[in-house]
Amino acid sequence: MQKSAPIGIFDSGIGGLTVAHAIKNALPNENLIYFGDTAHLPYGDKSTATIQAYAVKIADFLLQQGCKVIVIACNSASAAANELLKEYVASRATIINVIEPMVKHVAEKCEGQSVGVIGTKQTVNSGIYPASITSLNASMHVKALATPLLVPMIEEGFLHNRIAHDIIDKYLGDATLDGIESLVLGCTHYPLIKKEISAYYKDGVKILDSSTITAEFLKDFLVNNELLNDSEEQGHDRFFVSDLTDSFAHSAKLFFGEPVVLEKYQLWE
Ligand code: DGL
Repeated sequence: MQKSAPIGIFDSGIGGLTVAHAIKNALPNENLIYFGDTAHLPYGDKSTATIQAYAVKIADFLLQQGCKVIVIACNSASAAANELLKEYVASRATIINVIEPMVKHVAEKCEGQSVGVIGTKQTVNSGIYPASITSLNASMHVKALATPLLVPMIEEGFLHNRIAHDIIDKYLGDATLDGIESLVLGCTHYPLIKKEISAYYKDGVKILDSSTITAEFLKDFLVNNELLNDSEEQGHDRFFVSDLTDSFAHSAKLFFGEPVVLEKYQLWE
């Protein structure tokens, strides 16, 4: 595999740009190819089989682009399709997802703690976070809660208003999360309301953001496998979406934190 090959990143839509941006910050010389499946979002309410079918098609596209690594930036797709994609892609590229790095981080850094996880229905119902964390570290207590209204709320730009605060308060006040010491943001969108979540807990709960943890994990992987792009030039990035509207273009800047040019790519007829 060539060091200069691009890194593929995919998500159900534009939320995964939070992960892409963290990767760009950690690895500025890498070339990124992002694919947001805006034609099919949200993945969070879809069945495992449906998400798997989308993921395979997107992986084919990223393999055609010659990607050395494919990052599943979406928590719901990581929960539903990681194992299948690893088998499907095999030695053609390495699959990295957003759940494994967080699981490893929590198991190592939150020894003996009570940890909460919030995410979509797909992610939470898969049970992947509690099962994976406790299998690595049996001293952990992990409680997961589906918080499905947060994605549409954030996409509407409701981040700091009263409705947003009411929804955040309602979810975080759920008895499932009583007594947690750390909280995993198990969804691409949640870094945008990290401050509000932290404020809810009066900064008394550690908030764990999978975008930065995944970017560091990816960097370690590239270094350890001698796959780091050693070009001294700034990477060249492209951002494809399966459907393009003004609203996606507008949200892209919100999630990436800087202007992004989205290109429509017709992956489905
Ligand atoms: N990207 C999804 C995730 O991280 C959230 C949006 C969706 O449901 O498609 O789970």
